[in-house]
Amino acid sequence: MGGGRDHRHRIDVPLGLAQVRALRLRSSPSRPTIGRMSAAAPTPANQGGQGVAVSRWPSLTLTRRIFAVGVWTQIAIVFTGGLVRLTDSGLGCPTWPQCVPGSYTPVRYQSQSFHKYIEFGNRTLTVVVVAVVLASLLAAWRMTPRRTPLVLLALGGVAGVFAQAVLGGVSVLTHLNPYVVAGHFLLSMALVAVALALYERSRDAGDGPPVPLVRQEVRWLSAALVLVGSVVLVLGTLVTGSGPHSGDGQRVARTGLDPSQIAWMHADVVMLFVGLVVAMLIALRLTSAPGPARQRAWILFGVTMAQGAIGYLQYFTGVPWMLVSLHVLGATLLWVSVLRLIYPLRARGSGGPNDQPMVGASDRPSTSTTAAANLSGAAGS
Ligand code: HEM
Repeated sequence: MGGGRDHRHRIDVPLGLAQVRALRLRSSPSRPTIGRMSAAAPTPANQGGQGVAVSRWPSLTLTRRIFAVGVWTQIAIVFTGGLVRLTDSGLGCPTWPQCVPGSYTPVRYQSQSFHKYIEFGNRTLTVVVVAVVLASLLAAWRMTPRRTPLVLLALGGVAGVFAQAVLGGVSVLTHLNPYVVAGHFLLSMALVAVALALYERSRDAGDGPPVPLVRQEVRWLSAALVLVGSVVLVLGTLVTGSGPHSGDGQRVARTGLDPSQIAWMHADVVMLFVGLVVAMLIALRLTSAPGPARQRAWILFGVTMAQGAIGYLQYFTGVPWMLVSLHVLGATLLWVSVLRLIYPLRARGSGGPNDQPMVGASDRPSTSTTAAANLSGAAGS
């Protein structure tokens, strides 16, 4: 009988928060895997520190989905923002927050034709973007164990969106000054980079130091792609700022640069960029680099070709707004593709003693030994 009471007593003791967390860690179905590094099962060694990131609520899977939505919403807002500018739809909804007096949504009797839908779509998306960056911050904060770099990235996303709101206001106050408009676009590219980093880093096993999976030269090539890609973006905004789409239709605020000359300079740097993409494809092939890196490099190649084709087409057809809006979307996708290539070139673990990149877990059996050779080459360089 006494034993029975003991048994009941043990059952009735409420679990402490730490115990509940530990149980969830043990029973979590999600095991983050990226590239060649797969998170080790939770062990006493990695539960207390920067081990496997397991959420309470939202779950790890939901957390990553929120981060992924963050990337897509940033891409979408660049596209709709570009549409508003290119179609002069800024006054498609003449009042704020209501679209027309008495209605938050566009109404049929409104005179602003299709502009009202473009402006309303952009406003709606702005609300979604704000909601998603706040949700990302909450999700990053609630990760267990908490990963400070992810919280800082999520905070950067929130700060950036509010900075964009301020810059948007400044661009209206300065009558769409082309440099301010260019800054607005480039800040969006920074926000895309932050959102992507949040998503990709959440797929790492932890925040330990990056372990290279490829040779040093390949990582230099990746850095060169980011650098030259950034120059292409900056020059692109200068082309726009020198052409008919620099401001609103009535009051075109140009940079004063010759549109043709700056467009050719833009296209010349694109040639260099294409050369680097091809070099990257060859380098990844020759060094039998991780499969995800090769796959992402091919996607980058495809996006670059499509974007270059749209660029020339719009140049020779007098920059029609539909092609320019596709070019804006293409520039954003290209930027995402360049940045996505960084992540499969390295792995991050918890930084603990169990933290070993799983070189043998390659998607192609033949790459495991060469990847090991890559690693030793990279370590030696
Ligand atoms: C393949 C990589 C390319 C990227 C990443 C890129 C990126 C950009 C960006 C970011 C803009 C500014 C968009 C805006 O703020 O509205 C732009 C504008 C422009 N780009 Fe490109 N571009 C590429 C290739 C090309 C090529 C090959 C040409 C051919 C000449 C070209 C011609 C133009 C023109 C004419 C504009 C100005 C469009 C306007 O009037 O707004 N681009 N580009």
